[in-house]
Amino acid sequence: MSKTILITGASSGIGNVLLKQLIERNHDVIGLSRRQAKDVNYTHFSCDLSDPKAIENTVLTIQQSLTKLDAIIHVAGFGIADALEYTTYQDAELIHKVNVLGPFYLNRLLLPLLRKGVNPKIIHVGSVAGTLTIPFQAFYSMSKAALFTYSEALRMELKPFKISVSIVLPGDIKTPFTENRKNTYNERDPLYKNRIARAITKMAHDEQNGMAPERVTKPIIKMLNKRRLPIFKTIGLQYKLIMLLAKFLPHRLRLHIVYKLYGK
Ligand SMILES: NC(=O)c1ccc[n+]([C@@H]2O[C@H](COP(=O)([O-])OP(=O)(O)OC[C@H]3O[C@@H](n4cnc5c(N)ncnc54)[C@H](OP(=O)(O)O)[C@@H]3O)[C@@H](O)[C@H]2O)c1
Repeated sequence: MSKTILITGASSGIGNVLLKQLIERNHDVIGLSRRQAKDVNYTHFSCDLSDPKAIENTVLTIQQSLTKLDAIIHVAGFGIADALEYTTYQDAELIHKVNVLGPFYLNRLLLPLLRKGVNPKIIHVGSVAGTLTIPFQAFYSMSKAALFTYSEALRMELKPFKISVSIVLPGDIKTPFTENRKNTYNERDPLYKNRIARAITKMAHDEQNGMAPERVTKPIIKMLNKRRLPIFKTIGLQYKLIMLLAKFLPHRLRLHIVYKLYGK
């Protein structure tokens, strides 16, 4: 059955693949991002998720053209990389606005339309990095950890309304995410003896040798047809194993392993 679906981050990477796959399946898709996706025919809303006024204006326009919404899929997000010592207040604020407060505010304003939908669903895209704290990418980890907590709380609060809420947690995925990450480390790195550069080079290498976006979009599409969603879904067998291991390892050992991989 054709659904009316709003997807954020439709202009690039995972969201762009998802947009095309949803259109192929004859769903009515509304895409929200700053840029418009090329070579695809869909209803695009230009909206900067860091700007609450822009979100309000976008929702007002959506409310004028739609009578119901069946699903919201929050794919938009970005990373920042630097030592915490050098991270600016503005960057710390920006990443929380886009990765956490954007989804919160959009959901809040769109809930009346979602309540009118058929088996309504909210799906967030988090990250394994929200569960495993990554040094030199701390504010990204923090934003995805906050999104995870938000998703769990929203799931419980909306349960009586039969609105299902879930979060998918991808590991490394090969997308423009790597080049879109905000890197500000260069000039001060010598104090940290190139640890920041090494960590970011490793992150970039892992991402660019990572899984295809389809590994994330396939389970999301399956979720759209399910009545009950999982609380969260980790993407990729190796990441499921890492998450399981992390749960049982002593905390000190877990941090030591991540330190060896990204912090040293
Ligand atoms: N790639 C990975 O390894 C990986 C791993 C785990 C989780 N994730 C998560 O997966 C999601 C998608 O990332 P991706 O890999 O597909 O990266 P991407 O290719 O860089 O796509 C990011 C999307 O987010 C949108 N976006 C960024 N800032 C925005 C803003 N201020 N307002 C509105 N939209 C904004 C971008 O659209 P505009 O620039 O047009 O606004 C773009 O469509 C993100 O939430 C990311 O954290 C990625």
